[in-house]
Amino acid sequence: MRIILAGFGTVGQALAQVLHQDADRITQAYGFRPQITTIVDSQGSCSDDAGLDISLVLKTKKEYGTVARYPRKGRRNNDSAHIITNSEAEVVVETTPTNFKDAEPGLSNIKAALANGKHVVTANKGPLALAMPALLELANHRNRQLRFSGTVGGGTPFLDFAAKCMPGERIIRVRGILNGTTNYILTRMETASLTFEKALAEAQRKGYAEKDPTNDVEGFDTAAKIVIIANWVLKKRYSLRDLDITGITKITPQKLKQAKASNAKVKLIGRIEESSASVAPEQIPMADPTCVPDTLNALTFTTEHAGDITLIGPGAGGERTASAIVRDLVSIRQEYAT
Ligand SMILES: NC(=O)c1ccc[n+]([C@@H]2O[C@H](COP(=O)([O-])OP(=O)(O)OC[C@H]3O[C@@H](n4cnc5c(N)ncnc54)[C@H](OP(=O)(O)O)[C@@H]3O)[C@@H](O)[C@H]2O)c1
Repeated sequence: MRIILAGFGTVGQALAQVLHQDADRITQAYGFRPQITTIVDSQGSCSDDAGLDISLVLKTKKEYGTVARYPRKGRRNNDSAHIITNSEAEVVVETTPTNFKDAEPGLSNIKAALANGKHVVTANKGPLALAMPALLELANHRNRQLRFSGTVGGGTPFLDFAAKCMPGERIIRVRGILNGTTNYILTRMETASLTFEKALAEAQRKGYAEKDPTNDVEGFDTAAKIVIIANWVLKKRYSLRDLDITGITKITPQKLKQAKASNAKVKLIGRIEESSASVAPEQIPMADPTCVPDTLNALTFTTEHAGDITLIGPGAGGERTASAIVRDLVSIRQEYAT
């Protein structure tokens, strides 16, 4: 299986490392060898049809900041959609930055890949948040796979659980915590009586929050995940603009104290109900299984006959997300002999 990797940051490099490390095990267990043949970053690309030397490409990225300096086969060409269109690889893995304005460059990369008969695995939520129904249709029309396990819950298989482990059962409602950054901030505001600004600064120092934290603290990241779950699990054709979204920037330590007095905590909750979906801070009873601390994620599926089922796990991280991408690559291979 030949792979084009668009984006070579935290997740892209973790994936390269995991595939390099696990190549023999994957070959033995699943009968195929995933090989990264092209990598694109913001400054350029490198390609080798025989498979890139992963140790060398990681060393090159570390030393020069771009894969364009890969010996002999590096180029200052970062036109990823063009590179995808002209490549013979079977799968595109999309790990460019999430952008909720126009979803680029991820959206063009995914469209180019599907239009040219390539399967897609994306960790990038932007294209799905803005255009998931259309992208699923395009994949279906082209008889190719579009997979996105790493977009929700990192390595914790929220999507696979709901889509694969409950055949015959009807999931009626979904609610929970889907963003580790805001959960960490709210936890620190409550346990150390920090203001929102101080807790955010601490999360940034620890690497849990990005320099521009808007997508997390304004609730867009949680909303994108709710859109993905709504489309994939509940077959609702939602996009980001269908949701009511409120973030956590107006939460004060006083509000958290009030909640504590009634044995509750304030959490940023994403919800999908029968005919609506939303993201907003809510008071959650401490005894509720979704009331998890720190950077954890927790999601409760309300089913028609089996009651409430809650999954808890870490929601992000380069290596965990890489693990979800590998799951998707194996699933693609199992469905199509590429
Ligand atoms: N980090 C996580 O824990 C996590 C978890 C789940 C999902 N995700 C999602 O996965 C994606 C990647 O996350 P990350 O943490 O790896 O981000 P990152 O470290 O910022 O890496 C992004 C990569 O995309 C490259 N890039 C930027 N613009 C590009 C362009 N126009 N063409 C080609 N490449 C371009 C960057 O190039 P340079 O290296 O040259 O800057 C970089 O290599 C994001 O969409 C994110 O939301 C991340």
